[in-house]
Amino acid sequence: MKIAAIIGSPRSKGNSATIVKLLLDALKPGSPQTTVVELNKLTYRGCQACMACKTTSETCVVKDDLTDILEQIRVSDVVIIAAPVYIGDITAQAKGLIDRLYSLYKPDFRTNPNPGRLSPGKKLVFVVPQGNPDEKMFSDVVSRYTGMFKRQGFSAIYPIRALGVGPQSDVGKDAGITALISSTATDILAS
Ligand SMILES: Cc1cc2nc3c(=O)[nH]c(=O)nc-3n(C[C@H](O)[C@H](O)[C@H](O)COP(=O)(O)O)c2cc1C
Repeated sequence: MKIAAIIGSPRSKGNSATIVKLLLDALKPGSPQTTVVELNKLTYRGCQACMACKTTSETCVVKDDLTDILEQIRVSDVVIIAAPVYIGDITAQAKGLIDRLYSLYKPDFRTNPNPGRLSPGKKLVFVVPQGNPDEKMFSDVVSRYTGMFKRQGFSAIYPIRALGVGPQSDVGKDAGITALISSTATDILAS
């Protein structure tokens, strides 16, 4: 099983990174097929609206540090995107990547019942920690991006929301979250 884990928080040891580590430990300890990347350490642009991915190319033609990440997303069985809520939405680092996922839509994506370019069977885990403990707050963030991921061709999407976890929290010690990480890994391995 090939796994690509993409961390969209600037905090290398923050809540997103902790959840990703625990999930990877549960999924495939020490797998050589696992790629982990922190977007904050990369140099890249958002979508340039060149429309090459809708006209002349099946992939994004912008060449920067996201080029390899986009390829990892295309070839991995499981993709983990971890993106905490900053100022009411996912971080800018994660949004930059998500804009580039425009390249995962087919040219006729608006009318095509199968609008995504990804090959069938790929799973996505969407990890979204937030400081606010109210589950209604920012649930729209999760459902909005989840809808886009589905249209891009991910066959199954597993959201992991961590509520009420701030900068001082140790999310790894939260029994509810660790149980959710564990059940998510079990579901992925069983499917
Ligand atoms: C600049 C900034 C903005 C934030 N904005 C929000 C917010 O709008 N809503 C919220 O619930 N939490 C907000 N938070 C809290 C984070 O979502 C929370 O600390 C989360 O666990 C961070 O994950 P990380 O450690 O992976 O970066 C914000 C944190 C920072 C640093």
